[in-house]
Amino acid sequence: MAIVQSFAQDFRPNYHYTPPKNWVNDPNGLVYLDGEYHLFYQYNPFGDKWGHMSWGHAVSKDLIKWETLPLALPEIQNGDGSTTMIFSGCVVVDSFNTSGLFKAGFKKGLIAVFTSHVSKPGQDLAQHQSLAYSSDKGRTWKYFDKNPVLDIGLTNFRDPNVIWWPSEKKWIMTVVKPLEYIVQFYSSKDLKKWTFMSEFGKQGDMTKIWECPSLVKIPIVNTAETKWVLMISSGHRQAGYLAMQYFVGDFDGNSFKPQKQNEVFYVDEGKDFYAAVPFYNLPKNQKNPIIIGWTNDWEYANDIPAPDGYRGGFSVARKLSLYKTGNTYKLQQQPIISEKLTKEELFLSPGYSLNSKLGEKTANSYALSLDINLGTSKGFDLELLKTAEHYLKLRYDVASNMLSLDRINSGKTDFHQRFPSVESVKVMPEKNKLRLDILVDRTLVEVYVNGGKVVLTDLVFPERLKTVEVLKWRE
Ligand code: FRU
Repeated sequence: MAIVQSFAQDFRPNYHYTPPKNWVNDPNGLVYLDGEYHLFYQYNPFGDKWGHMSWGHAVSKDLIKWETLPLALPEIQNGDGSTTMIFSGCVVVDSFNTSGLFKAGFKKGLIAVFTSHVSKPGQDLAQHQSLAYSSDKGRTWKYFDKNPVLDIGLTNFRDPNVIWWPSEKKWIMTVVKPLEYIVQFYSSKDLKKWTFMSEFGKQGDMTKIWECPSLVKIPIVNTAETKWVLMISSGHRQAGYLAMQYFVGDFDGNSFKPQKQNEVFYVDEGKDFYAAVPFYNLPKNQKNPIIIGWTNDWEYANDIPAPDGYRGGFSVARKLSLYKTGNTYKLQQQPIISEKLTKEELFLSPGYSLNSKLGEKTANSYALSLDINLGTSKGFDLELLKTAEHYLKLRYDVASNMLSLDRINSGKTDFHQRFPSVESVKVMPEKNKLRLDILVDRTLVEVYVNGGKVVLTDLVFPERLKTVEVLKWRE
């Protein structure tokens, strides 16, 4: 039976997707088909810690309300005592039946391209890329009988993301060698036989391994132009944590050439945004890619509180564009939810308005849009989810132009020593103003600054539901 997300639990976000129970990590196979957005995800059907990796499944018509469907791709028990876990990957629509896996003329076949991770207890044996296919909009799947389709003999080679290249009628796979900081590009006519084209890497942030790469074409705001962006899940500005970096450049169907970049660009500056990938097959009028990320950090992911029986969840869907600054292009992200800000959509409790005045909140689940005119102040402290003892602090300091999100005193933090933390990022005011669009959803906060030119996403575990917000000017 399908389960519609409920409002009853205390810490469960309302307008962010979380599974009914158990563990989740990366979003997988984001794909749009026939009015439905699909979110597949790394899922442990047997517990609330990482393990038995399989693909869970949820669908949505508006990217806000999600319905959980039965498990899509289960872990496989092999005859020889090994198991194949279904690691991260993507789903494409094989509208020309290039794979030959569907009935002639069928245009709506879905193909999942995922990493097959083979192991025995205590021993990783292989990672290679494999296929599964579905003729009923992702409700039921068959594993391809000649898996794997791409094996280069490594135990670390994963997270395929596939796009269609119409001019040459070929598929292009972006996949990563995590320990070598190398992204590889392969091509195929039928998704079954893959040929190496080129590789890119050994630059940017190499403080952690590289995972979940994706290559996507993004419009530049106020122009008719586009650029290619290569996103990679990797290290954070702060040692030890995880984040996503991106390179902007050109892609000619064969290889990726980055623009000159003197610094690392991060998709999100918070601690809890990882493994985001774009939707495949968005409606034609939707030119801007849309991504969803996993809102957790491997640094402490298995230890976050799970009072409601699930552990981990996802960001809201974000629309991507590029804007020009100096000689470079940078990402701008807009939460899809901001286009639908009505009380009903956001499950706001009665009495709350959106471009909200600061004040008491009982549901801890709302959106707050603030245009903060800095005047001649030295900055401000915005205390979110505030109770008598605790708050999540967003501080802006005019002299250094540093914006920081501080969850050291935000509530429950003692489950892992690396959880209490502060992140800081330079943000220039625009016309002496900072625009903040803040999504507060019980245990998850997404802060979009200046129209999403900087974004910070953090988990937080306030100990009470009734909280207020307070803005204090720093004189
Ligand atoms: C990223 C990741 C992927 C892998 C999956 C396994 O979070 O490590 O590289 O495919 O999770 O669950």
